Amino acid sequence: MNLSNKKPFIAGNWKLNKKIPDAVFLATQIKKAVRKERDAEIVIMPPFTALSDVKKVLSHTSILLGAQDTFWEESGAYTGEISPSMIKDTGCDFVIVGHSERRRYFGDTDEKVNKKIKAALSAGLFPIMCIGETLEERENNETMSKVKKQLREGLKGIDKDLFSKVILAYEPIWAIGTGRTASPEQAEDVHGFIREQLTKMVGKDTSSCVIMLYGGSVKPKNTFSLIKEKNINGALVGGASLEASSFVEIINEAKKAYKEKQK
Ligand code: 13P
Repeated sequence: MNLSNKKPFIAGNWKLNKKIPDAVFLATQIKKAVRKERDAEIVIMPPFTALSDVKKVLSHTSILLGAQDTFWEESGAYTGEISPSMIKDTGCDFVIVGHSERRRYFGDTDEKVNKKIKAALSAGLFPIMCIGETLEERENNETMSKVKKQLREGLKGIDKDLFSKVILAYEPIWAIGTGRTASPEQAEDVHGFIREQLTKMVGKDTSSCVIMLYGGSVKPKNTFSLIKEKNINGALVGGASLEASSFVEIINEAKKAYKEKQK
């Protein structure tokens, strides 16, 4: 599969929500609204337990499937863990790595994130690597240094040819689940900085192809202004992806924003 940032990329991170019947119901509702979408890439990310059932719902649609985390080892005595190829086995193409909730509650360090990204890529998954600062770091003017560190350490040792398979999600921690979104200018500032850092790492040709998402209280009403920004290619949506109506509205707003930017 080839990814491109020529169209908006909208991913719904369902987090710890939806048992199998509810997940199947939500996926069915989304499918009714966007069965074959050419002008946006749409990914839904249910909990592990619902992946296989949701995959069946998505057959004959353009909606893609992702998981919310992975372990880095392929197999072995690691009770409770799930490997990238097991995720791939359920029909997923994507996996979130380094979400701030994993970093905060489950000890995911930049080093672990790096191992997970490498393992995901080896299994043929597209990792969605999350980075972002706390409120305290923003107030101390540490946003860029934090993001730069997460970027450099998370992507350390990854072959240049594989960079375009990594999707980046800038998710300021203070904006997640708080209803407080970064302004389009604040988000674009960081996205522009990330693109610059990527250019330093792998050159302009590669960095310009990387898909960069914004995440943190994305709602239908703020999607257009965020995605209209030059370096914002889409959104990683939490709460608003749990209702088909708001998720579909976000997709439509993102398409409008892309049309506007391409004028
Ligand atoms: P909210 O959209 O609920 O703020 O969550 C964002 C997020 O963490 C997506 O990964």
